[in-house]
Amino acid sequence: MSDSTARLDLDNGSVELDVYQSTVGQPGIDIRKLRATTGHVTFDPGFGNTASAHSAITYIDGAAGILLHRGYRIEEVASKSSFLEVAYLLLYGTLPNVGELLTWESEINAQTLLNEEMRSFFDAFPRRAHPMAVLSSATNAISTFYDVYRRPMREDEIDAGARTLIAKMPTIAAWAYKKSIGEPYVYPDPDLGYVENFLRMTFSNPISDEPIDPVKVKAMNMLLILHADHEMNCSTATVRGVGSSRANMFTSVAAGMGALWGPLHGGANQAVIDQLQSIHDDPDATIPGMIARAKDRNDDFRLMGFGHRVYSNYDPRARVIEKFAQEVLDSMDQADPLLDIARELEAAALADPYFAERNLYPNVDYYSGILFRALGFPLRMFTVLFTLGRLPGWIAHWMEMNLDSETKIMRPRQIYIGEAERPYPAIEDR
Ligand code: SDX
Repeated sequence: MSDSTARLDLDNGSVELDVYQSTVGQPGIDIRKLRATTGHVTFDPGFGNTASAHSAITYIDGAAGILLHRGYRIEEVASKSSFLEVAYLLLYGTLPNVGELLTWESEINAQTLLNEEMRSFFDAFPRRAHPMAVLSSATNAISTFYDVYRRPMREDEIDAGARTLIAKMPTIAAWAYKKSIGEPYVYPDPDLGYVENFLRMTFSNPISDEPIDPVKVKAMNMLLILHADHEMNCSTATVRGVGSSRANMFTSVAAGMGALWGPLHGGANQAVIDQLQSIHDDPDATIPGMIARAKDRNDDFRLMGFGHRVYSNYDPRARVIEKFAQEVLDSMDQADPLLDIARELEAAALADPYFAERNLYPNVDYYSGILFRALGFPLRMFTVLFTLGRLPGWIAHWMEMNLDSETKIMRPRQIYIGEAERPYPAIEDR
């Protein structure tokens, strides 16, 4: 039932459209009957003005720089919850009590092992393979060991698929990394927590199995939470879109990884470090020079880690990460010159009218790479780490889409500007 209506006047008449109010944020004009009643479609490249579904998972107030997961502020869940606790919150809508959390953690920990036949899968990739290519392929590959294709999946099967993906993704990510550095795969240890297990599988090896620094565990836990969900971003919209054709959860998530890999999305964290490193290494690459290139309409150069489709304010996640990066570096008695350069570059950009006029601020990717480096990850693993964080968000949206009676297969329209019908010329007449 709509709350009010909006009237659209066209050359060939007008139409009353229902308007739906949201709990918080923008109301929505329901245009589902627009084409049938007016013969018109709307035009909205990138869907910046188009809501594709009702959702209750995450809310972003872009103007105020507020991010809520199921109503809880990101700053609170990032500082008070474990990543698995936030994953449970995103999937099931409530924070788990002690018993629910213990059951959830033990169910996940019991499934971190990959089928042994997956070893040959990793061996089939060249060492130089980008780990995102390995991760998205492996996500489809592990689905072949489970019965995930039954349609429609029962609720218990959906829950089982979610647990399998969340449990096994850290092992896949760690083994993709081990493959790329030619070290033996490290098997999961069910006695370790989710994050500690991932760090041990990534950084330990048969001749060095030091206990994982609790500071690194805390930082990784917070980073995964800060990447956990962000409403209808490009990769989540992709997961929903693929899932709308009734494709299974695993292949929908694998498609989301492809979208996240792009440098305009989750690949930006890697691109930010490349930019900061070039300022550090190359005397010809200066902060004023970068700002000038970012402002030059004839240059497709972008200040990576800056700007956002929804935030017209500072991304709250960027603030938390920047503060934590300093704390982690201090605790390890390390300094990273790229953090100083990042801060200088941020100050120069925010002081420039070009960025201020367009409300361009640091986003989640601007400082995350500094923290990933401090934790010992190589550049090529950064988007993989974003993937590990975003996984429960993708699954929560896939589940919400799958259970939503309003869901229809994604099939946008177009404004055709090609040739009108014309006669087919024989080849000798061309
Ligand atoms: C993520 O959607 C999400 O929620 C994503 C995410 C998540 O958690 O899922 O938050 C994660 O993907 C963060 C974004 C990471 N990407 C980058 O940091 C890449 C750099 N940023 C930009 O490419 C851009 O800001 C986007 C892609 C993030 C947003 O692009 P929009 O909303 O399509 O904006 P636009 O390209 O239309 O830009 C509007 C104006 C343009 O200038 P004018 O044409 O008005 O003169 O702002 C300019 C752009 O040229 N602009 C930039 C800029 N970002 C926008 N100019 C220089 N540097 C930039 N970074």
